[in-house]
Amino acid sequence: MDTRPEDARLPYYEDPSPGSGTLPARAWYATSDAARLSLDGPWAFRLSATAEGADTAFTQDGADTTDWQEVTVPGHWVLQGHGAPAYTNVRYPFPIDPPRVPTENPTGDHRRVFDLPERWPTDGEAVLRFDGVESCARVWLNGRELGTFQGSRLPHEFAVGDLLRREGNVLAVRVHQWSAGSYLEDQDMWWLPGIFRDVTLLHRPEQAAADFFVHAGYDHTTGQGTLRVDCVPGGRVTVPELGLDLPTGEERSLPVEPWTAETPRLYQAELATEGERIPLRVGFRTLTLEDGLFKANGRRVLFRGVNRHEFHPETGRALDLETMRRDILLMKQHNINAVRTSHYPPHPAFLDLCDELGLWVIDECDLETHGFCELEDWRGNPVADDRFTPALLDRARRMVERDKNHPSVVIWSLGNECGSGPGLGVMSAWIRERDPSRAVHYENDRAYPDSDFYSRMYASHAEVELIGRRAEEPLPDPRADARRRALPFILCEYAHAMGNGPGGLSDYQRLFETHERLQGGFVWEWIDHGLPKRTEDGKTYFAYGGDFGEELHDGNFVCDGLLFPDRTPSPGLVEYKKVIEPVHITGDPANGTVTLTNGHDFTDLSHLTFTWTYAIEGEHVAEGELKVPALAPGASAELALPEHPESDLSGEAVWTVRATLARTLPWAAEGHLVAWGQLPVPGTATPPERRRGTGALVAPARADEGIALGPGVFDPASGALTRLGGLAIDAPPRLDVWRAPTDNDLGAPWQSDARHGVRWQEIGLHRMRHRVDAVDADGASLTVRTRVAPAASDLGLLTDYRWTATEDELRLTVTVTPQGDWPCPLPRLGLLLGLPATFGQVTWFGGGPGEAYPDTRAASALGRYELPVDAMQTPYVRPQENGARADVRWAELRTDGGTGLRVTADPEPFWLTARRWTSGQLHAAEHTPDLVPGDTVWVTLDHAQHGIGSQSCGPGPLPQYHLNAAPARFSLAFSEVKGA
Ligand code: GAL
Repeated sequence: MDTRPEDARLPYYEDPSPGSGTLPARAWYATSDAARLSLDGPWAFRLSATAEGADTAFTQDGADTTDWQEVTVPGHWVLQGHGAPAYTNVRYPFPIDPPRVPTENPTGDHRRVFDLPERWPTDGEAVLRFDGVESCARVWLNGRELGTFQGSRLPHEFAVGDLLRREGNVLAVRVHQWSAGSYLEDQDMWWLPGIFRDVTLLHRPEQAAADFFVHAGYDHTTGQGTLRVDCVPGGRVTVPELGLDLPTGEERSLPVEPWTAETPRLYQAELATEGERIPLRVGFRTLTLEDGLFKANGRRVLFRGVNRHEFHPETGRALDLETMRRDILLMKQHNINAVRTSHYPPHPAFLDLCDELGLWVIDECDLETHGFCELEDWRGNPVADDRFTPALLDRARRMVERDKNHPSVVIWSLGNECGSGPGLGVMSAWIRERDPSRAVHYENDRAYPDSDFYSRMYASHAEVELIGRRAEEPLPDPRADARRRALPFILCEYAHAMGNGPGGLSDYQRLFETHERLQGGFVWEWIDHGLPKRTEDGKTYFAYGGDFGEELHDGNFVCDGLLFPDRTPSPGLVEYKKVIEPVHITGDPANGTVTLTNGHDFTDLSHLTFTWTYAIEGEHVAEGELKVPALAPGASAELALPEHPESDLSGEAVWTVRATLARTLPWAAEGHLVAWGQLPVPGTATPPERRRGTGALVAPARADEGIALGPGVFDPASGALTRLGGLAIDAPPRLDVWRAPTDNDLGAPWQSDARHGVRWQEIGLHRMRHRVDAVDADGASLTVRTRVAPAASDLGLLTDYRWTATEDELRLTVTVTPQGDWPCPLPRLGLLLGLPATFGQVTWFGGGPGEAYPDTRAASALGRYELPVDAMQTPYVRPQENGARADVRWAELRTDGGTGLRVTADPEPFWLTARRWTSGQLHAAEHTPDLVPGDTVWVTLDHAQHGIGSQSCGPGPLPQYHLNAAPARFSLAFSEVKGA
């Protein structure tokens, strides 16, 4: 880029260098015996439209701030009524001209007056620490400028001892939304300026620890831990539990229990210098790269991971401790063992919690320059621009120095999506030198010169399998190829959890468990970043990109998490928990056996209790405990199931074996379900003729109302069912192939593969017409021949409905024959019917309790369930197809009075969906309040559904989950349930 005269005198916020006046980076710790004063709370606040729009008089004593507003620190001013948040994924929301930023640069002046506590010591130094300010700050204390800094999610400290006074200290901070640093912070998330992490004044006694580095290794061959704590100035380290008392800088080895994410064993310790005592928690573990694998304490680790942005719907990236803990508890309770802190170091307290509760952490630097990919060859990319190199190094240093003492942190990641450039090499070289004990990760350079992992995002199953076999496509440079081929592999992002999905998780997991090179993956992402809003009539909902008047935005792409914004687990998280469960339960009930395999990497099964239950047609019959040997990691055992319990019930029988926590652990209570498996008992499934009625078939007959057939009445002209016994049918059952496209159906604009959700609309599957060709009543049946097809196309589905009946049951066989050359799979193939709104209660025997689709059905368990229609909906932030229940054998929809419709599988199970709006209304809705219940309960009884996949960012459904347009036949039986 050309330089211009003004570049030589850029203001600090456009200066690409890291800043001025700050202290060297050092380890973060939550407490010590040195005094500290939190400066969090209400601050006076003034917003200006430009960086230079206001004077700096506010930095002085006695400045008049009576007309200022107030904000809470930590916080983002745009979430506190000043300005607005904005969302872009890749694109910078300002012209790309690094390091320059727009003149329109929202700037928040913050001011806080504070007194020192009574007992604030008079000796030593004092340090003012900012744990996170987005994106650039200039700081004054008592009228004196301390300096400036950039690097939003990294700590910055200033020495302030000589400026402090007992009372009336004036701390003034000017924060600019845009700075040169913004070019390094193009993560896919809301742009949220502000002082969003803690501000603290720290007393630094004479001879306090300036910095320290805990080295705690574990030799799995001897069981010995080795501890050395480096500290300036020197002091002593004590670990009472181990009887250790040694000088800093010295090493001691002795038998210990190791730290792993499964066994987060921490030893309480203390570091004492002459001036300060710091409580430490030491976890002994050693990380190695050997045999082409990443190992902890000598064993390959399988990451069952998730990418976590810091997010709270009310406070954005300002997170309280409770929320951090909640995230980790939810992760642990859902069998997640690893987290990538995408794409910046989290609040440091989060890592303390990871140490304590046990998660493997990829700590990622606050760095992404993705927006440069919009320019040819990433022109101007800061990681290839010398002017930014000091800032890159500063970021790497601040992350590593801050977080180096956490056993949970096992991998340093340079950042996300910066393409390639020498700046990354500078970062990795410094990190490797400073901390050779951990691995380094970077994904976005195909040759991986700066990474100890071959890492990909959203790679297809086929590609991952090739990599698993170390048979990937070679790189052009043989040396680079050989190096990469020797690396362990992770999917640093996969399974895009946007809306309904992600699909295909089981298929990835199978690969990870087959090929040892594949060390697992990190689902994208943990939580939907939806921000609460209210409609004019007071309904609350979650908003996304474009809802705040942004000129440039990426819509609901910001809502792609396993948790809804309010932290309710989505079906995707329930599915993930099942897919990654650390105990595999399979078996051969015909032989009376169940097989248990320990999928943990480090622990045996002694923390689990195993129980069995036996159910017939979803009715509980018996239960008991299963004695399972402790089983080493990776080991299996085949155990005998008990004798079949006696029961008067008849029908489909299933064993369910569950592994639950035998005692309360810090992350879940005794009894918490960890893993389960179901074993259907062969030969017990109810034969169709017993499931439906057994009466003799009756013939159709002309009646006043139309054609009568058993309990049914049909319109003679259209062949439509209008009544079933006493039930009025609002909309007769007829073929339905449309679903409100999911985000994964629609795919991302950059996808090269077919995007079926787009195709379906082009073809017109949402506006199919039903032409009635014939209504034939013969001696045994009523047959209605139709052709179902969209306008402007010669594609069609010849659809025949053949109705037969007994006195009290209608049976329907649907035959579908596609016509024309269908260019894509169908969304669904089934029947849609409408019942009056009063039919609001659903009972079914089939898969549940939650939704399932062909490639998201691992967590669907056979059982008998009952739910109101309203509770069968999944409230995706952008409404879309949801709520199907798999493998349904029978279902009843009833009124409060108990009157209802019973649908029976004949014999193949069906997919059941019931909702108070049509697929068309679901499709048209942009936010949840757009869905307004109508007068009809719409019930879809599907013979088949198309898979879900992950194409909102990754691959679509695997071919085996495609619902191809092909001849099909399916049958169902309908009867009336009489109320009490
Ligand atoms: C990745 C990126 C993430 C996120 C994701 C899509 O490319 O690293 O930050 O944007 O795609 O949701």
